[in-house]
Amino acid sequence: MENKHFLLICMPGQGHINPMFQLGKCLIHAGAGRVTFATTAHGLTQVEAFPSLENLHYASFSDGFDDGIKPTNDPHRIMAELKRVGSQTLTELLLSLSKEGNPVSYLIYTLLLPWAADIARDMSIPSAFLCILSTTAFALCYCFFEERDGVYDSNDNRPPSSIEMPGLPLFTSKDMPSFLLPNDPHASTLIPIFQHHIQALEKDSNPCVLLNTSDCVEEEAIRLISNLNPIPIGPLVSYAFLDENNSTDSSCGIDLFEKSAEYSQWLNSKPEGSVVYVSFGSLAVLQRNQMEKILLGLTSNCRPFLWVIRPSGSNDREFEEKIRDKVNEEVGLIVPWCSQMEVLTHESIGCFMMHCGWNSTLESLATGVPVVGFPQFSDQTTNAKMVEEVWRTGVRARVNEDGTLEAEEIARCLDMVMGGGQRGEEIRRNAKKWKGLTLEAVMEGGSSYNNLNAFLEKIE
Ligand code: UDX
Repeated sequence: MENKHFLLICMPGQGHINPMFQLGKCLIHAGAGRVTFATTAHGLTQVEAFPSLENLHYASFSDGFDDGIKPTNDPHRIMAELKRVGSQTLTELLLSLSKEGNPVSYLIYTLLLPWAADIARDMSIPSAFLCILSTTAFALCYCFFEERDGVYDSNDNRPPSSIEMPGLPLFTSKDMPSFLLPNDPHASTLIPIFQHHIQALEKDSNPCVLLNTSDCVEEEAIRLISNLNPIPIGPLVSYAFLDENNSTDSSCGIDLFEKSAEYSQWLNSKPEGSVVYVSFGSLAVLQRNQMEKILLGLTSNCRPFLWVIRPSGSNDREFEEKIRDKVNEEVGLIVPWCSQMEVLTHESIGCFMMHCGWNSTLESLATGVPVVGFPQFSDQTTNAKMVEEVWRTGVRARVNEDGTLEAEEIARCLDMVMGGGQRGEEIRRNAKKWKGLTLEAVMEGGSSYNNLNAFLEKIE
């Protein structure tokens, strides 16, 4: 391993960067000689601070938008440029690393970059796809293509059929990853990309697929894609805050947003298990009307809350300021960004109201924090179903036909999850149980730990 150089490439989304960076740390911990972490040139300019670790290096490739992607750019053009310019600049990066005496021995890529496997194959470099979505969502994609005999026609408006995976409840259209639904605006861009990912994996065991999950968390979905030779190595979350001796680890992660410093003290002043932590990840943009309903739901619930509102997470800075002004510190605190694992491991946290992005979902499992799910798009609907019906560590909030979540429903869900009723007790018991199981998987001798080591041993 000490002579192995891993190149990790990912798109500059927080949900992509976090698991890839944690994988980089695991590789260094396992003795890799060199790990180079690369994202797009514009993505690198967004990084708040680069964690420094021995043997860890940074590099970039271009997606064709070095000044940043504008909301008005056409998604098809973005993906076409990413493939065209990305292929070219990734090849240049591989050649220049080789020229400077650091040839890459293994390439690991994430979602949206399936063409990286083709480049690696052409250059005789083995590669792996790190799936940053839940394996259940990935398995539903796999079923979607099986149902269509591997052929996707963008004029095909059939909704995906309900899918039953042995051992799991039925997945209906409301639980499917949104990009598989015919009326989803991203379907025609994303479905061909998933198809490319799956086709590359079906060819042979190079590339293989590394899953950000563990055997026990998504056993059924892992079984369903067994012919892709999946390797569960997660949860890839930052464990620094779970280890009391390590909570000042400066290499915890890479942030694309500036963190607030004020929340730690505020959390310290709150009783154990009393605070509702609210965050909808790094991408979701909530409407004004929805933000107002959330504020009303949270304030009427009489529990303190810490709410992450990213600057312009609602596309409307002035409005966000107004929301901030309405909240007094006795009741709640609004911050632009935080260290989520630090917050989730704080003893004052009693519930995580969230969108069920896969990283946040895994982080809730790994810290044993019960969930109120308000999924927005992508795999979030699938993950919310798993939270409510499989792990039973939370509830999925009911929304109106137009997708709006009412203040009363927020209050109802929080009472259910944090209150004294039987369901709340069961949820909190389950959350504790899953915390134990997920940690066991990544600790020395656990299934994910062993899977990662077996994968590394096979690398020549
Ligand atoms: C995206 C998709 O939206 C999601 O559906 C998919 O599963 C992964 O990619 P995102 O929306 O950003 O991700 O959500 P999530 O997967 O939860 O990732 C967000 C990450 O940001 C988490 O690791 C979380 O810990 C971190 N975060 C969030 C912070 O560190 N601080 C914050 O204030 C908020």
